[in-house]
Amino acid sequence: MNPLHCTIILACLTLPAAAMAADCAARIESYDAMQYSTRSIAIPASCTSFRVTLAHTGKLPKTAMGHNIVITSAADAAAVGHDAIAAGVGNGYLEPGDTRVIAHSALIGGGETSQFDVPVAKLKPGANYVFFCSFPGHNASMKGTLQVTQ
Ligand code: CO
Repeated sequence: MNPLHCTIILACLTLPAAAMAADCAARIESYDAMQYSTRSIAIPASCTSFRVTLAHTGKLPKTAMGHNIVITSAADAAAVGHDAIAAGVGNGYLEPGDTRVIAHSALIGGGETSQFDVPVAKLKPGANYVFFCSFPGHNASMKGTLQVTQ
């Protein structure tokens, strides 16, 4: 058996969980501007849970250029974003216990990351969901669409 073949077999034996999870995760970056690195998230229907990682690669603190990811139905987004402003930075710009929020990250500043899991069973395939930053004024440009795909 040649050495290359052994390496491939070892990788397959030691990394099955990571390989299986590859399609059930997304990494989204942001920085010191009101922008995400992507405008859409597609969650395969076969995923029971979907891990989202938000990274803020900028330098500004969360009080000045805070970012988060909030997932709601397309219909609820405007009202959730409105109520989030009143909730204030101490609540991460989200109304505590807001049941319209399907999943969300922490509010983070430069150099920080936040991970969270999307409960895929709560999402209807084909329905329209959105993700956005609930920091005041950010959701005009920090927003995107999210769907469960077959
Ligand atoms: Co933001």
